[in-house]
Amino acid sequence: MVTAGARAPIGMFDSGLGGLTVARAVIDLLPHEDLVYFGDTARCPYGPRPADEVKGFALEIMDLLVAQDVKMLVVACNSAASTALEDAAGRYDVPIVSVIEPGVRAAVAATRNRKIGLIGTEATVSSKSYDRALDATRANATMVEQACPRFVEFVEQGDTTSDEAIEVAEEYLKPLIDAEVDTVILGCTHYPLLMGVIQIVMGEDVVLISSAEATATEVFTRLRTDGLLNDQEAPGTHRFIASSGEGTFGELGRRFLGPEFGAVEHHPWN
Ligand code: DGL
Repeated sequence: MVTAGARAPIGMFDSGLGGLTVARAVIDLLPHEDLVYFGDTARCPYGPRPADEVKGFALEIMDLLVAQDVKMLVVACNSAASTALEDAAGRYDVPIVSVIEPGVRAAVAATRNRKIGLIGTEATVSSKSYDRALDATRANATMVEQACPRFVEFVEQGDTTSDEAIEVAEEYLKPLIDAEVDTVILGCTHYPLLMGVIQIVMGEDVVLISSAEATATEVFTRLRTDGLLNDQEAPGTHRFIASSGEGTFGELGRRFLGPEFGAVEHHPWN
Protein backbone atom coordinates (compact mmCIF):
# COMPACT_ATOMS: atom_id res chain seq x y z
CA MET A 1 0.00 0.00 0.00
CA VAL A 2 1.30 3.46 -0.94
CA THR A 3 -0.26 6.39 0.97
CA ALA A 4 -0.86 9.95 -0.20
CA GLY A 5 2.23 11.37 1.53
CA ALA A 6 4.60 8.91 -0.13
CA ARG A 7 5.76 11.42 -2.75
CA ALA A 8 6.85 13.90 -0.06
CA PRO A 9 10.57 14.20 0.73
CA ILE A 10 12.41 12.77 3.72
CA GLY A 11 13.65 15.54 6.04
CA MET A 12 17.09 15.05 7.59
CA PHE A 13 19.38 17.28 9.66
CA ASP A 14 22.67 17.60 11.51
CA SER A 15 24.73 20.44 12.95
CA GLY A 16 26.84 20.39 9.79
CA LEU A 17 28.55 17.95 7.46
CA GLY A 18 28.35 14.80 9.60
CA GLY A 19 24.78 13.88 8.71
CA LEU A 20 25.87 13.60 5.08
CA THR A 21 27.23 10.16 6.04
CA VAL A 22 23.63 9.17 6.80
CA ALA A 23 22.33 10.95 3.68
CA ARG A 24 24.81 8.95 1.55
CA ALA A 25 23.58 5.66 2.99
CA VAL A 26 19.91 6.62 2.53
CA ILE A 27 20.48 7.71 -1.10
CA ASP A 28 22.30 4.42 -1.83
CA LEU A 29 19.53 2.33 -0.32
CA LEU A 30 16.53 4.38 -1.50
CA PRO A 31 17.43 6.02 -4.84
CA HIS A 32 13.83 7.05 -5.61
CA GLU A 33 13.33 9.05 -2.43
CA ASP A 34 13.45 12.84 -2.43
CA LEU A 35 15.52 14.33 0.39
CA VAL A 36 15.80 17.71 2.13
CA TYR A 37 18.97 17.98 4.22
CA PHE A 38 19.54 20.80 6.71
CA GLY A 39 23.04 21.50 8.08
CA ASP A 40 23.03 23.97 10.97
CA THR A 41 26.52 25.17 10.07
CA ALA A 42 26.02 28.61 11.66
CA ARG A 43 25.64 26.97 15.09
CA CYS A 44 28.00 23.97 14.66
CA PRO A 45 29.36 22.37 16.82
CA TYR A 46 26.46 21.24 18.99
CA GLY A 47 28.55 18.89 21.13
CA PRO A 48 29.98 21.40 23.65
CA ARG A 49 26.65 23.24 24.12
CA PRO A 50 24.23 22.73 27.05
CA ALA A 51 21.56 20.05 26.45
CA ASP A 52 18.66 22.54 26.52
CA GLU A 53 20.25 24.70 23.85
CA VAL A 54 20.88 21.73 21.53
CA LYS A 55 17.30 20.56 22.10
CA GLY A 56 15.97 24.02 21.18
CA PHE A 57 18.02 24.07 17.97
CA ALA A 58 16.89 20.56 17.01
CA LEU A 59 13.19 21.33 17.55
CA GLU A 60 13.54 24.58 15.58
CA ILE A 61 14.96 22.66 12.60
CA MET A 62 12.38 19.88 12.84
CA ASP A 63 9.60 22.52 12.90
CA LEU A 64 11.11 24.01 9.75
CA LEU A 65 11.34 20.65 7.97
CA VAL A 66 7.80 19.64 8.98
CA ALA A 67 6.57 23.01 7.64
CA GLN A 68 8.05 21.88 4.30
CA ASP A 69 5.75 18.84 4.41
CA VAL A 70 8.38 16.14 4.85
CA LYS A 71 6.97 12.64 5.37
CA MET A 72 9.64 11.54 7.86
CA LEU A 73 12.26 13.16 10.09
CA VAL A 74 15.72 11.59 10.26
CA VAL A 75 17.76 12.96 13.14
CA ALA A 76 21.21 12.45 11.58
CA CYS A 77 22.87 13.94 14.65
CA ASN A 78 23.50 12.02 17.85
CA SER A 79 23.76 15.18 19.95
CA ALA A 80 20.31 16.33 18.77
CA ALA A 81 18.82 12.85 19.14
CA SER A 82 20.25 12.53 22.67
CA THR A 83 18.64 15.77 23.82
CA ALA A 84 15.48 16.32 21.74
CA LEU A 85 14.00 12.97 20.83
CA GLU A 86 11.58 12.66 23.74
CA ASP A 87 10.09 16.11 23.09
CA ALA A 88 9.99 15.54 19.34
CA ALA A 89 8.08 12.26 19.67
CA GLY A 90 4.92 13.99 20.91
CA ARG A 91 5.27 17.08 18.74
CA TYR A 92 5.03 15.81 15.15
CA ASP A 93 2.69 13.55 13.21
CA VAL A 94 5.44 12.17 10.95
CA PRO A 95 7.62 9.18 11.92
CA ILE A 96 11.03 10.02 13.41
CA VAL A 97 14.13 7.88 12.91
CA SER A 98 17.25 8.52 14.98
CA VAL A 99 20.81 7.22 14.68
CA ILE A 100 21.13 5.88 18.22
CA GLU A 101 19.09 2.65 18.37
CA PRO A 102 20.21 1.29 14.95
CA GLY A 103 23.87 1.84 15.94
CA VAL A 104 23.43 0.08 19.29
CA ARG A 105 21.69 -2.91 17.70
CA ALA A 106 24.49 -3.24 15.11
CA ALA A 107 27.13 -3.10 17.88
CA VAL A 108 25.36 -5.75 19.95
CA ALA A 109 25.25 -8.00 16.88
CA ALA A 110 28.97 -7.41 16.15
CA THR A 111 30.64 -7.72 19.56
CA ARG A 112 32.31 -11.01 20.43
CA ASN A 113 33.62 -10.21 23.93
CA ARG A 114 30.55 -8.11 24.96
CA LYS A 115 32.75 -5.03 25.53
CA ILE A 116 31.54 -2.11 23.43
CA GLY A 117 33.12 1.34 23.13
CA LEU A 118 31.05 4.43 22.44
CA ILE A 119 32.62 7.63 21.15
CA GLY A 120 30.60 10.81 20.65
CA THR A 121 30.30 14.48 21.50
CA GLU A 122 30.16 15.75 25.08
CA ALA A 123 26.39 16.35 24.66
CA THR A 124 25.82 12.73 23.60
CA VAL A 125 28.09 11.11 26.18
CA SER A 126 26.75 13.17 29.11
CA SER A 127 23.12 12.48 28.12
CA LYS A 128 23.65 8.71 28.71
CA SER A 129 21.34 8.07 25.74
CA TYR A 130 23.53 5.16 24.55
CA ASP A 131 23.48 3.54 28.01
CA ARG A 132 19.69 3.62 27.94
CA ALA A 133 19.56 2.26 24.39
CA LEU A 134 21.95 -0.58 25.34
CA ASP A 135 19.87 -1.42 28.43
CA ALA A 136 16.76 -1.57 26.24
CA THR A 137 18.34 -4.31 24.10
CA ARG A 138 18.79 -6.45 27.25
CA ALA A 139 22.13 -7.54 25.81
CA ASN A 140 24.62 -8.77 28.35
CA ALA A 141 27.27 -6.22 27.33
CA THR A 142 29.19 -3.35 28.94
CA MET A 143 29.89 0.03 27.38
CA VAL A 144 32.91 2.31 27.81
CA GLU A 145 32.11 5.87 26.75
CA GLN A 146 34.48 8.61 25.63
CA ALA A 147 33.81 12.12 24.34
CA CYS A 148 36.05 13.17 21.43
CA PRO A 149 35.23 16.88 21.01
CA ARG A 150 38.01 17.77 18.57
CA PHE A 151 36.96 15.15 16.00
CA VAL A 152 34.10 17.38 14.75
CA GLU A 153 36.56 20.27 14.34
CA PHE A 154 38.84 18.13 12.14
CA VAL A 155 35.97 16.99 9.90
CA GLU A 156 34.45 20.47 9.53
CA GLN A 157 37.91 21.63 8.37
CA GLY A 158 38.14 18.76 5.87
CA ASP A 159 41.06 17.13 7.74
CA THR A 160 40.42 13.39 7.85
CA THR A 161 43.99 12.02 7.51
CA SER A 162 46.60 14.24 9.24
CA ASP A 163 49.21 13.17 11.81
CA GLU A 164 47.61 15.63 14.22
CA ALA A 165 44.25 13.84 13.85
CA ILE A 166 45.97 10.51 14.60
CA GLU A 167 47.74 11.95 17.67
CA VAL A 168 44.47 13.35 19.04
CA ALA A 169 42.74 10.01 18.34
CA GLU A 170 45.48 8.12 20.23
CA GLU A 171 44.78 10.23 23.28
CA TYR A 172 40.97 9.97 23.09
CA LEU A 173 40.85 6.25 22.32
CA LYS A 174 43.35 5.03 24.95
CA PRO A 175 40.63 4.26 27.57
CA LEU A 176 38.82 2.09 24.98
CA ILE A 177 42.01 0.23 24.07
CA ASP A 178 42.81 -0.27 27.79
CA ALA A 179 39.27 -1.63 28.35
CA GLU A 180 39.82 -4.11 25.47
CA VAL A 181 36.62 -3.27 23.65
CA ASP A 182 36.24 -5.25 20.41
CA THR A 183 33.55 -3.00 18.88
CA VAL A 184 33.29 0.78 18.78
CA ILE A 185 30.14 2.73 17.96
CA LEU A 186 30.90 5.93 16.07
CA GLY A 187 28.26 7.82 18.07
CA CYS A 188 28.60 11.06 16.14
CA THR A 189 27.68 11.25 12.48
CA HIS A 190 30.89 13.19 11.75
CA TYR A 191 33.10 10.31 12.90
CA PRO A 192 32.66 7.89 9.95
CA LEU A 193 34.62 10.48 7.97
CA LEU A 194 37.53 9.76 10.36
CA MET A 195 37.06 5.99 10.04
CA GLY A 196 40.62 5.51 8.70
CA VAL A 197 42.21 7.40 11.58
CA ILE A 198 40.10 5.60 14.19
CA GLN A 199 40.76 2.17 12.67
CA ILE A 200 44.54 2.76 12.58
CA VAL A 201 44.53 3.71 16.26
CA MET A 202 42.12 0.97 17.45
CA GLY A 203 43.74 -1.78 15.33
CA GLU A 204 42.24 -3.83 12.55
CA ASP A 205 40.54 -6.43 14.77
CA VAL A 206 38.21 -3.86 16.30
CA VAL A 207 34.85 -3.49 14.52
CA LEU A 208 33.82 0.12 13.93
CA ILE A 209 30.07 0.69 13.74
CA SER A 210 28.90 3.61 11.65
CA SER A 211 25.21 4.06 12.33
CA ALA A 212 24.70 5.46 8.81
CA GLU A 213 23.94 2.12 7.11
CA ALA A 214 21.92 0.79 10.03
CA THR A 215 19.90 4.03 10.10
CA ALA A 216 19.25 3.85 6.35
CA THR A 217 17.90 0.31 6.81
CA GLU A 218 15.65 1.60 9.59
CA VAL A 219 14.40 4.40 7.28
CA PHE A 220 13.60 1.80 4.59
CA THR A 221 11.80 -0.49 7.05
CA ARG A 222 9.75 2.33 8.57
CA LEU A 223 8.73 3.84 5.20
CA ARG A 224 7.72 0.40 3.97
CA THR A 225 5.70 -0.42 7.09
CA ASP A 226 3.93 2.96 6.97
CA GLY A 227 3.16 2.73 3.21
CA LEU A 228 5.38 5.75 2.59
CA LEU A 229 7.92 4.39 0.08
CA ASN A 230 8.12 6.67 -2.95
CA ASP A 231 6.99 4.75 -6.05
CA GLN A 232 8.16 7.37 -8.57
CA GLU A 233 10.26 5.97 -11.44
CA ALA A 234 12.61 8.95 -11.65
CA PRO A 235 15.64 9.18 -9.38
CA GLY A 236 15.00 11.18 -6.21
CA THR A 237 15.89 14.87 -5.92
CA HIS A 238 18.14 16.14 -3.15
CA ARG A 239 18.07 19.61 -1.58
CA PHE A 240 20.77 20.90 0.74
CA ILE A 241 20.17 23.84 3.08
CA ALA A 242 22.76 25.38 5.41
CA SER A 243 22.26 28.07 8.04
CA SER A 244 25.55 29.75 7.07
CA GLY A 245 25.10 29.31 3.32
CA GLU A 246 27.48 27.77 0.78
CA GLY A 247 30.92 28.25 2.48
CA THR A 248 32.90 25.20 3.62
CA PHE A 249 29.70 23.16 3.72
CA GLY A 250 29.39 23.60 -0.05
CA GLU A 251 33.09 22.93 -0.63
CA LEU A 252 33.31 19.78 1.46
CA GLY A 253 29.76 18.57 0.88
CA ARG A 254 30.56 17.30 -2.59
CA ARG A 255 33.68 15.51 -1.35
CA PHE A 256 31.84 13.83 1.52
CA LEU A 257 28.50 13.08 -0.19
CA GLY A 258 29.44 12.74 -3.86
CA PRO A 259 27.74 13.77 -7.11
CA GLU A 260 24.22 14.17 -5.69
CA PHE A 261 25.43 17.21 -3.74
CA GLY A 262 24.07 20.25 -5.57
CA ALA A 263 23.72 23.96 -4.85
CA VAL A 264 23.41 24.97 -1.21
CA GLU A 265 20.36 27.01 -0.19
CA HIS A 266 20.95 29.54 2.57
CA HIS A 267 18.62 29.66 5.58
CA PRO A 268 19.98 32.26 7.99
CA TRP A 269 18.60 32.41 11.55
CA ASN A 270 17.24 35.83 12.56
N1 DGL B 1 27.27 15.18 14.03
C1 DGL B 1 26.72 15.47 15.29
C2 DGL B 1 26.49 14.27 16.14
O1 DGL B 1 26.20 13.22 15.60
C3 DGL B 1 27.06 16.77 15.97
C4 DGL B 1 28.47 17.16 16.08
C5 DGL B 1 28.59 18.52 16.72
O2 DGL B 1 28.02 19.47 16.17
O3 DGL B 1 29.25 18.64 17.77
O4 DGL B 1 26.55 14.34 17.35
